[in-house]
Amino acid sequence: MADTFDLTVIGTGPGGYVCAIRAAQLGMKVAVVEKWPSFGGTCLNIGCIPSKALLHASEMFEEAGHTFPQLGIEVGAPKLNLDAMMAHKDDTVASNTGGIEYLFKKNKITTFKGTGTIAGTGKVTVTGDDGETTIETKNIVIASGSVPANLPGIELDEERVVTSTGALKLGKVPENLLVIGAGVIGLELGSVWARLGARVTVVEYLDRILPGMDGDVAKQFQRILAKQGLEFKLATKVTGIEKTDAGLSVTIEPAKGGEAQTLATDIALVAIGRLPFTDGLGLDEAGIERDERGRVKTDGHYKTSLEGVYAIGDVIAGPMLAHKAEDEGIAVAEILAGQAGHVNYRVIPSVVYTNPEVASVGRTEEELKADGIEFKASKFPFTANGRAKAMLASQGFVKILADAETDRVLGCHIVGKGAGEMIHEAAVLMEFSGSAEDLARTCHAHPTMSEAVREAALGLGDGPIHI
Ligand code: FAD
Ligand code: NAI
Repeated sequence: MADTFDLTVIGTGPGGYVCAIRAAQLGMKVAVVEKWPSFGGTCLNIGCIPSKALLHASEMFEEAGHTFPQLGIEVGAPKLNLDAMMAHKDDTVASNTGGIEYLFKKNKITTFKGTGTIAGTGKVTVTGDDGETTIETKNIVIASGSVPANLPGIELDEERVVTSTGALKLGKVPENLLVIGAGVIGLELGSVWARLGARVTVVEYLDRILPGMDGDVAKQFQRILAKQGLEFKLATKVTGIEKTDAGLSVTIEPAKGGEAQTLATDIALVAIGRLPFTDGLGLDEAGIERDERGRVKTDGHYKTSLEGVYAIGDVIAGPMLAHKAEDEGIAVAEILAGQAGHVNYRVIPSVVYTNPEVASVGRTEEELKADGIEFKASKFPFTANGRAKAMLASQGFVKILADAETDRVLGCHIVGKGAGEMIHEAAVLMEFSGSAEDLARTCHAHPTMSEAVREAALGLGDGPIHI
């Protein structure tokens, strides 16, 4: 008789692996099923981690060429060794995915390699290279993630017409890169290749970049990116991509319709969002419902329509972010252990890892207006921050939105170097329902970029000091 597990998790991305580890820590006997050769899902293999390795490396390349001379460091023009940069990225991925393997062993989690299919309550079949295995399990968590969306009629080859996966491993710096979609992937990977020398044009369907982010932030950030050489074609749609001997011929037209135009490019990156991935799970046969957007449907406690089956991460509703998936993984493990697992969706930070970074937590000005909430806003620029000046990093600002009556902080939006780290003081404050005054009265070390966060908070009271 085969072992019976308390929990079997399908998928080992940040949702799945974190859920498995927490469940094991809480005393459960846990199995994971993964169809890819390495653990860690999109995030570790083809997402967060490799993109951040290339973002960092290309930022260093850019700094060596443009910032060093201003700091009095003369090293000559930097020379790109793309193979070595890619090797750094691959090593980073390998070390992180290997880390998950180690953590599974440490937590005595049983691993199955192959595609997991739900054969009903309490049963998962795994189809892998060694044939089919059936796992008996009390509970199942679906953490199967997402895949890139594509435009109709466009053939992705991951060499010339690529998704983020192909854009993370181009063999040479393209002369021209056309990015379709001014969202997070388009701007991060567009920045990488622009820094390494490509001429980057971003075509966006809407009349703004980064939909969902605060409008002020998007506007200023677009100006900064334009100065870095990214060209934007907003309110424009791509209607076709033709492969030619010379490269690609991309047809665009105004989003509302109008005269078509063609653009020549070497590489086109399709970055128009991601779709939930449910192939092979056997959802229909098992009677597990999806929502109107094809995501696994769950109740407020991650339960699907089939008893004993839960779902988390990119495959369910909510922002497609690694830390959202992780937190849901922990919440489900705690729920299964009889605890009160919970995720506060009002306080999920999001970061665009460009230079400067863009970070946001809580609500935007547009959302507060739409909800009819009376609020006050304060903005403090990094041009008035001593540390930012010393680091030649005075682009951007901190914006804080607080309830007009109670002073409770409702949102914080930062454009600036290190914004992705600074945002967490606002996140912690918001978790404790803190006010702008709480932030303004907290002593901040000098000189730090974070002083700008405090100054923005001071701006909601008696006023900032340094402006
Ligand atoms: P995934 O990470 O997608 O993992 C799903 C796993 O399930 C995969 O390993 C897959 O092989 C496996 N699987 C699927 N079906 C089966 C099956 N039937 N049987 C067995 N295994 C199966 N988010 C951030 O928060 N910060 C970032 O900086 C960031 N950068 C990103 C950069 C890029 C280029 C991309 C593409 C995404 C990025 N994301 C980032 C998003 C982040 O990667 C996802 O939100 C996150 O990976 C979702 O985690 P998940 O566990 O839900 O699914
Ligand atoms: P996205 O949703 O961030 O952006 C897609 C963009 O494409 C939007 O601006 C949208 O208006 C535009 N678009 C849609 N259809 C279009 C069309 N036909 N023509 C032109 N533009 C079009 O999606 P993206 O960038 O693909 O990223 C997918 C997910 O991965 C996101 O949900 C994001 O949360 C996650 N991610 C997170 C990162 C981070 O946290 N730093 C980094 C990379 C990805």
